[in-house]
Amino acid sequence: MAPRRLFVTTALPYANGSFHIGHFMEYIQADIWVRFQRMQGHEVHFVCADDAHGAPIMLKAESEGLTPEGLVARIAAERPRYLNGFHISFDHWHSTHSPENTELSQSIYRALKAEGLIDTRVIEQFFDPVKGMFLPDRYIKGECPKCGAKDQYGDACEACGAVYSPTELRNPYSTLSGATPVLRSSEHFFFRLSDPRCVDFLREWTQSGRLQPEVANKAREWVEGEQGLGDWDISRDEPYFGIPIPDAPGKYFYVWLDAPIGYLASLKHHFDTGGAAHLTSQSFDQFVADPGVEQFHFIGKDIIYFHTLFWPAMLKFSGRKVPDNIYVHGFITVSGDKMSKSRGTGISPLRYLDIGMNPEWLRYYIAAKLNPHVEDIDFNPDDFIARVNSDLVGKYVNIASRASNFISRLFEGELVDVTRQPTWLALDAAAASADIAHCYETRDFGRALRHAMEFADRVNQAFDAAKPWELAKDPARRDDLQAICSVCLAGFHALTVWLKPVLPALAEKAEAFLGSGPLNWQDALRLPARVARYEHLMTRVDPKLLESLFEPAAGTAVAATDAPPAKAAKTGASKPAAPEAPPAGSGVVSIDDFNRLDLRIARIANAELVAGSDKLLRLTLECGEDRPRTVFSGIRSAYAPEQLIGRHTVMIANLAARKMKFGVSEGMVLSASWDDPTRPEGIYLLEVDTGAQPGMKVR
Ligand code: 2FM
Ligand code: ZN
Repeated sequence: MAPRRLFVTTALPYANGSFHIGHFMEYIQADIWVRFQRMQGHEVHFVCADDAHGAPIMLKAESEGLTPEGLVARIAAERPRYLNGFHISFDHWHSTHSPENTELSQSIYRALKAEGLIDTRVIEQFFDPVKGMFLPDRYIKGECPKCGAKDQYGDACEACGAVYSPTELRNPYSTLSGATPVLRSSEHFFFRLSDPRCVDFLREWTQSGRLQPEVANKAREWVEGEQGLGDWDISRDEPYFGIPIPDAPGKYFYVWLDAPIGYLASLKHHFDTGGAAHLTSQSFDQFVADPGVEQFHFIGKDIIYFHTLFWPAMLKFSGRKVPDNIYVHGFITVSGDKMSKSRGTGISPLRYLDIGMNPEWLRYYIAAKLNPHVEDIDFNPDDFIARVNSDLVGKYVNIASRASNFISRLFEGELVDVTRQPTWLALDAAAASADIAHCYETRDFGRALRHAMEFADRVNQAFDAAKPWELAKDPARRDDLQAICSVCLAGFHALTVWLKPVLPALAEKAEAFLGSGPLNWQDALRLPARVARYEHLMTRVDPKLLESLFEPAAGTAVAATDAPPAKAAKTGASKPAAPEAPPAGSGVVSIDDFNRLDLRIARIANAELVAGSDKLLRLTLECGEDRPRTVFSGIRSAYAPEQLIGRHTVMIANLAARKMKFGVSEGMVLSASWDDPTRPEGIYLLEVDTGAQPGMKVR
């Protein structure tokens, strides 16, 4: 079979915030698939890029006194450390704010226009007269037109669930300036998705059996739904950080137009800078037009709309090849706590690496949970410890350490040929190899690993059944001892191949032990002739270390850990996730911003140590509500619980609740400490003057 030619991407992360664990779930999933394909001898081009454009990035940069380019560059600079840290093997990383993306976006737009698929229409929208810009819905708040709840977003009420348009809000205000927005009209550009050609094409493309069934169903609802496919607003007015629309001064492409084109831009930059030359002599243009090339995008379930409707249609009607498939995954929860794109989860990928956790533990654990469906997966600390320790250390690594012990001591590392050994034949490595390959191919990684671990169990059982420790005592049974150890090490060799897509660094160490050189898939059934001295391959997860992943750094309150900056939840397919923009003007907040904090007097009704944590105290706070709140605070180093009970202090009552390993933290108490590590380390809880009552507002 001729090698397949694959172009693979993951979703481009917004360049306004750090990575969170959800990004890594996707990168790990795609990376495992890609590494598997490379081991099959296929030609793979695996790329990603920063998704640099859009109002949120522009506003965030402004609030930090940076240019958008400067902000994007700062975020980009921190990326490689994480990507390399988790062994993600992208061939190239680029940016949507690049000449390649500008050229490609403009040319795709021109082609769509030439097809008669671009329309202009005048629409009315809220405009912030102080900021001098049209306001995306996310930046408009007001009172719910249905229930009157205050401070509701422009699209839906969090209090009563009503859905409406921003113009229906009562007393609307701009969250950027506080000003009352005014309605203004402006000409917008639309991609005519409702054109029968688009509808026919999307009906065919989404229902041709390629998509995961649940994804195809969603797409069917959108295409065939009562409202049908609506035209898509692809333009934004200046000021906007984006790509200018040709022949339309002051108009920019909406970020979601140029973002997926960034897949192509990254690939183009990769080809143009010679990165693909060792795999192909084709140019970028030849490669992307080649019918033999397959194109796959790994994405999360929140951006299906963009990838199964807009993106294939943009490609199709600009005369380009369409994707072969979109592989959609669910979200990752931590101990059942839903990951929000805004807060990430309780696990910070950087902290994971910084505290010295092995990245391959996480790769293995995530892989073990993944299947080809759009299902959420849960990171459960106890399960994590059990899986990694029992599977990787207890089953896989154990084989090498047990068998090599005899082989090194008694046979100078020499193995015998086990091709015809009944114990080896009974293991049926050929069947396991085919099964596991099929599971990797179909992204059924959990199943692939279950097959591998079943095989490891059989190897360990064969070893135990042969009682090598007894064979070692009987010089007449030396050959049997060497044979059973050789069988086990042949099994270890096969397992190393099968686990290599998931555990590339461990595989490299195992390859050195097996003297094999880089292993590919077809090497799984090759028998090793000798092994080097066994060196420790992997340590067990230390529960204490894992615990510290969930703890705040000393001196910080729980909710103030290194979670990524706030980013508003996605509410509809036509809106990009938008981080809450801090107010303009570097470092200065308006009184409105300050007032958004619900600071209150709290009485510490109880304080207790937290079993398993040496940093936290569990506080029970009375703050004027029906029931007290539980808050975990990283102040244990400074206070004994009994010093705190009965005291009054200040808390933030409207901080998003945060699920910790030990329970849910429903707020944060305020304390003082130095930011400067050269100063003394003390933490000082805020004290309140006599007379203040729990529940009083602090302002
Ligand atoms: O949802 C997101 O995080 C987007 N930045 C994904 C873009 S994927 C592609 F279209 F660029
Ligand atoms: Zn309401």
